[in-house]
Amino acid sequence: MKVLVTGGTGFIGSHAVVSLIEAGMKPIIVDNFDNSLPSVLENLKAITQTTVPFYKIDCNDQEAVNEVFETEKDIEGVIHFAAHKAVGESVINPLKYYQNNIGSLIVILKMMKKHQTPHLVFSSSCTVYGQPDQLPVTEHSPIIPAQSPYGNTKQICEEVIRDTVKSAQTEQDDFQLNAILLRYFNPIGAHLSGHIGELPLGVPNNLVPYIIQTAAGIREKLTIFGKDYNTPDGTCVRDYIHVMDLADAHVKALQLLVNKKQTNNTCEVFNIGTGKGNSVQELVQTFEKVNNLKLNYEFGNRRPGDVEQIYASVAKANQELGWQAQRSLEEGLRDAWNWQQKLMK
Ligand code: WQD
Repeated sequence: MKVLVTGGTGFIGSHAVVSLIEAGMKPIIVDNFDNSLPSVLENLKAITQTTVPFYKIDCNDQEAVNEVFETEKDIEGVIHFAAHKAVGESVINPLKYYQNNIGSLIVILKMMKKHQTPHLVFSSSCTVYGQPDQLPVTEHSPIIPAQSPYGNTKQICEEVIRDTVKSAQTEQDDFQLNAILLRYFNPIGAHLSGHIGELPLGVPNNLVPYIIQTAAGIREKLTIFGKDYNTPDGTCVRDYIHVMDLADAHVKALQLLVNKKQTNNTCEVFNIGTGKGNSVQELVQTFEKVNNLKLNYEFGNRRPGDVEQIYASVAKANQELGWQAQRSLEEGLRDAWNWQQKLMK
């Protein structure tokens, strides 16, 4: 089965490409290297011994996307990762986010319709829940108004997909579309080989990239944002999911879509996390322990916009996708550090 992977050289996309190949699927990558590097393609080859077809295009470029569908002919599924994802930048430059994240999805959906591609897996985010009243959050937990243009684009994209699936159900339309929206919690880690991992350009915003760069001496110290939250140790709680587990969830999602072919035109949502909450301080201590090093860190003010705690209910993913996280927090933090060390060689 040919699967178009947009953003396939990015952090999650590149790991998903590995999982797809291992599952016997045929990924085709499109990426514009906006937040990734061409060397990822070589590194994917080192892991999989496969040369993955690649097109350097922007998913907002409809003609270019159309050409990929025409060249590859029988693309059966799309995993749409390509998007901007920096929350802070989205506040400063919202139009960039609305244009890119929503525009590219619309192009993808139009081209899927034109070329009769029935299966879509979309990268959504736990950010749609904001600070939930009840934990763990289920897929039925309320969606709250987004805290940032980035978060808003994820909510809007979910709606765009739902409406497109609905429209495909009408009799006038012979377009068959099935979609799965995966709401990711906090991805960490790297491929065990150390060939691929997270490559933030510039100063990282996310916790684990900041930690590994601090451990590597690239950053002077980590600031833990807030120690006065209403949590066991006063620091925020998140659900940290190993990127290879997250990657595997995409394979399961595609398999579910393909197997459900007879019941067309459905849109399902799944939380993809471990189901376990860990505090920032716990994560830092676990990082020190598994990697046998000391991290330079201090406590600072809260970061505006951070939710206090969130972690996933993964019951639906367990039952319906047949998926659950296999890797521990320790493995994620070991693999992330291994990746950073390899980068420095
Ligand atoms: C985790 C925790 C910080 C950096 C964001 C997006 C979300 C997403 C993942 C998409 C928080 C604390 C962080 C630092 C710290 N998806 N922290 N010092 O904010 O949970 O989620 O990334 O791409 O949509 O909102 O992730 O890694 O930034 O923060 O103390 O230098 O680490 O306050 O509690 P977050 P994060």
